[in-house]
Amino acid sequence: MWSTCTALVFALVAASSFTSVYVLEFCQNISPECHSDDNTASNSQSSLHTVKSKWTLNASSLMHDLNQFRVSCKKLLEALPIDKVDGNFVRTVKNCIFSKSIPTPLKGPLRLAAACKDVIEGILDLDASVTRSGDFLHYASGGRLLPGSVPLAHRYGGHQFGYWAGQLGDGRAHFLGQYSNKKGEVWELQLKGSGKTPYSRSGDGRAVIRSSVREFLCSEAMHFLGVPTSRAASLIVSEEPVLRDQFYNGNVKAERGAVVLRLAKSWFRIGSLEILSQSGEIDLLRKLLNFVIDEHFPFINPDNPEKYLVFFSTVVNETADLIAQWMSVGFAHGVCNTDNFSILSITIDYGPFGFMESYNPNFIPNTSDDEGRYSIGAQANIGLFNLEKLLVALIPVLTQTQQKQAKIILKGYANIYQMRVHQIFKAKLGLLGEDEDDNDLIAFLLKMMEDTESDFTMTFRELSEVSANQLLNRNFTQMWALDDLSHHKHFSDWLNKYLFRLSRQQDDSHLDRQHRMKNVNPRYVLRNWMAESAIRKAERNDFSEVELLHHILSSPFVTQETAEEAGYAARPPQWARRLKVSCSS
Ligand SMILES: *[C@@H]1O[C@H](CO)[C@@H](O)[C@H](O)[C@H]1NC(C)=O
Ligand SMILES: *[C@@H]1O[C@H](CO)[C@@H](O)[C@H](O)[C@H]1NC(C)=O
Ligand SMILES: *[C@@H]1O[C@H](CO)[C@@H](O)[C@H](O)[C@H]1NC(C)=O
Ligand SMILES: *[C@@H]1O[C@H](CO)[C@@H](O)[C@H](O)[C@H]1NC(C)=O
Ligand SMILES: *[C@@H]1O[C@H](CO)[C@@H](O)[C@H](O)[C@H]1NC(C)=O
Repeated sequence: MWSTCTALVFALVAASSFTSVYVLEFCQNISPECHSDDNTASNSQSSLHTVKSKWTLNASSLMHDLNQFRVSCKKLLEALPIDKVDGNFVRTVKNCIFSKSIPTPLKGPLRLAAACKDVIEGILDLDASVTRSGDFLHYASGGRLLPGSVPLAHRYGGHQFGYWAGQLGDGRAHFLGQYSNKKGEVWELQLKGSGKTPYSRSGDGRAVIRSSVREFLCSEAMHFLGVPTSRAASLIVSEEPVLRDQFYNGNVKAERGAVVLRLAKSWFRIGSLEILSQSGEIDLLRKLLNFVIDEHFPFINPDNPEKYLVFFSTVVNETADLIAQWMSVGFAHGVCNTDNFSILSITIDYGPFGFMESYNPNFIPNTSDDEGRYSIGAQANIGLFNLEKLLVALIPVLTQTQQKQAKIILKGYANIYQMRVHQIFKAKLGLLGEDEDDNDLIAFLLKMMEDTESDFTMTFRELSEVSANQLLNRNFTQMWALDDLSHHKHFSDWLNKYLFRLSRQQDDSHLDRQHRMKNVNPRYVLRNWMAESAIRKAERNDFSEVELLHHILSSPFVTQETAEEAGYAARPPQWARRLKVSCSS
């Protein structure tokens, strides 16, 4: 039994990790000013979270007029070459990073399905009331260009499902420009679903309501879970028919087009470098690397002859970190191709993702992924695969010695990942300090969860909420996930070990432990059935459930009455079991 447990911990550990320190800090700073009118949170819970943002919004300095809002493409256009060929037709593109491409306006009437106040005000310095204007509908769906905008489609390549796929590129996304906000941050605005580009291949350049609702909700949910991610400002839906074969089974249906306005500090991917290396554009590869380092890795000295090596080491570390954080919340990305992996190690490209419900290291969110290449337990290894491809792309700019060093750095990935996972899961269990049996304690628990098919999110959450007395008495009334777990024949053994481990923590109390654990173990994640229910309504122009979910998932660590009423922390409904993930997007 013990060896099985250890092996299992390592299976998961080999596939997940994260910095607990960062998570803890983040969670305590969660700022739901997106929903400052939230009075549904129970008092005892909300007092745990100082509902205070890091910056105080200065309402008078928010822009009320979209015409004052300016983006800029200058920096990118001055530093990086643009496609010499003009026109929005599909082609092979060489010797550039971007192609100019004008968005194709969505056919109206347009409707604002959702907007994120936290992004609109906190990042874009816009008063949230502007999202209700007609202008906003057009700007945020590609019908009009923001002042200063030169819309661009990015040229990249990538390894898809294990093989080099050649040129890919933004096939339905348009970069609009950079916005420098009051806090001194620079964000890149991008539309997704805004029409064809030179990189559209056989695609129609559109995104449907279904996949857009999922991207909007999940990227915001991930942010508030403390996981690095792109953000979403708005979701606009149209009446434009878009044909999709949702399950790749020949059943084509007309759906409706939608556009998400999304933001990231940078949209460059591993595939952005790969395409340059693969096509022998080494000067351009160096140019892009220098640009990325200058803009996004300010701690790397541009004159340092080892700068590409330090860059690589940073990406290796942060990727290990990111995947560990995915594991900590049971997130499976679903398509971890090198073109879906950010150089800044943030979560991007929300497609057939899923949050694991019953604990299962083989959980596969994309129901068409029969081989389980991108199962949740495979993510750490896929991360390594993608970093190997990054290293291959960097070889032309590394000396022989540096190439050897880079290989050694890559060998360190597994350790970094395991260390992060270890830290994270210790925090999830409220463990302080270090004990040689901690790995076994974690592995033992996960093995029991797997055997009993306990819910990943709620098992950890209920362990955070359960009182010392309830634990001692094994009283799990109203704790459905813990109750499932407690049916394991070795549960008592584990619990005794756990309680003994906790009892040896000096200067700790059960209340402190609960407090710490509730700040890292969310009560609400975007379960597939929750998204599906909101999507069905959104397709009938009822956006109330999108709004509700957006609101609730902005404070995932706080118990909220409306969420409890909606059953978001309850055992998933029967119909959820039969649900398939909507794959084509
Ligand atoms: C808010 O912003 C306005 C305009 O930028 C400025 O004049 C004012 O002093 C600011 N107020 C606070 C409290 O920062
Ligand atoms: C990556 O992590 C390793 C192990 O923690 C550390 O030694 C190394 O300095 C880190 N690299 C960078 C560039 O931060
Ligand atoms: C991720 O990459 C695949 C190809 O590897 C691409 O088809 C897809 O559009 C990307 N996913 C998303 C959600 O953008
Ligand atoms: C799901 O997996 C299948 C099989 O690997 C793949 O062809 C398909 O592109 C995946 N779906 C998405 C949206 O990535
Ligand atoms: C079990 O815990 C619940 C609180 O969740 C409490 O109301 C109940 O009295 C406890 N039952 C026993 C037998 O201690």
